[in-house]
Amino acid sequence: MFRHPTAVPVYRSDIYSRAALLDPYPHYRALRDLGPVVWLARHRLYAVPRYAECKETLRDDGRYLSGHGVAANPWANRLSRGTTLNSDGADHDRRRKLVAHRLMPRALRTLGDDVDARARALVDDAVRRGTVDAVADLATALPLAVVPDLVGWPPDERGDLLHWAAATFDILGPANWQALKALPRSLHMLRFARRVVRERNVLPGSLAAELLTAVDEGGLAAEEVPPLLIDYIAPSLDTTISAISSALYLFATRPDQWQLLKEEPSLLPNAVNEIVRFESPLRGFTRKILHESTIDGTHLPAGARVLVLYASANRDEREWDAPDVFDIRNNAGRHVGFGSGAHACAGQGLARLETTAMLQALIERIDRIEIVAEPTWAVNNIIRRHEHLPVKLIPAT
Ligand code: HEM
Repeated sequence: MFRHPTAVPVYRSDIYSRAALLDPYPHYRALRDLGPVVWLARHRLYAVPRYAECKETLRDDGRYLSGHGVAANPWANRLSRGTTLNSDGADHDRRRKLVAHRLMPRALRTLGDDVDARARALVDDAVRRGTVDAVADLATALPLAVVPDLVGWPPDERGDLLHWAAATFDILGPANWQALKALPRSLHMLRFARRVVRERNVLPGSLAAELLTAVDEGGLAAEEVPPLLIDYIAPSLDTTISAISSALYLFATRPDQWQLLKEEPSLLPNAVNEIVRFESPLRGFTRKILHESTIDGTHLPAGARVLVLYASANRDEREWDAPDVFDIRNNAGRHVGFGSGAHACAGQGLARLETTAMLQALIERIDRIEIVAEPTWAVNNIIRRHEHLPVKLIPAT
């Protein structure tokens, strides 16, 4: 067991307490003010809260390893073995090459029209109904209609998918109550994925079917498939739900930005980046170092675990001119909300496609987005997203 060097600033608050999960930004600012590397006494982790060092850490995947897990607790790291997320070097390249190409923009081109049509139908339906919950009826409905089919998850077994996927993120935090109570649901998902593979109960032509073909052709062992299924289904829902519901919230509360987007739809790709920068769906993941290292002059002992705080980096005043202002004219493309380097999000093309489709459908039909009751936030160790966002979509006349 290593001791943290005395020169490193220490932060004693619990950044995973319920209050901090609901309102994380003051903690991130305090961490950034303390230094480029901060010892989190409660979690026995080094936090990297500033943009430059986050990026540096993510890009140096030979030193800052994912293969020992990216969670902040050892049991989740054991449980996530075999995923692309939790692998390094050649292992990582091999896993990523198996199916990530299915999510590249070119491969997604055929899906585009279908996603656009579904987004339009959801917006039309929301207008007809008057008041809707933007989280359930728009932000969740779209990815649920698209991604499980793409991944190949059995159509009759989707009722628990959302709970399982959220739990699979939750367990990646520290070993707190929040993670512990999520564990049974996450285990359930893994057991179910194993059964899907045993019974070959996947949709033809899907990403899962492609993995099973690789097994038949001798390129992959059958037991390697369940973690890879989890790899793609688990991060495909809450992340995108976060981005789409944040988009609705941010444009509802900033009508000038909404008008700007309606007048200049060419700002859409940048708006998506600005949403992911401003309300990063993923707080942070860890890396392990096997040999001693330094980050910006701070010594880190061998065996240390480093928490890369994407959400804090995306609000770093050293990098962004006005980080706490949401402005779709910002040049936000360099945010680290989708990570960076070898492990940069494999599904970002799909997430961008879905978020863009929803915003496009909204700017075509909607004049104003009105929040009609107090929104609530979901509590999750890793994901920041709304739980409920009651809105009324006022159509253009
Ligand atoms: C707004 C939506 C999304 C956000 C903000 C997001 C964010 C991230 C981040 C930050 C990472 C890097 C993890 C690391 O550094 O260790 C990542 C990796 C990953 N994401 Fe996403 N993600 C999103 C949507 C998706 C979707 C829709 C899918 C799949 C359908 C997906 C699949 C993956 C996979 C497989 C990895 C692991 C890549 C690797 O380790 O090589 N993500 N994501």
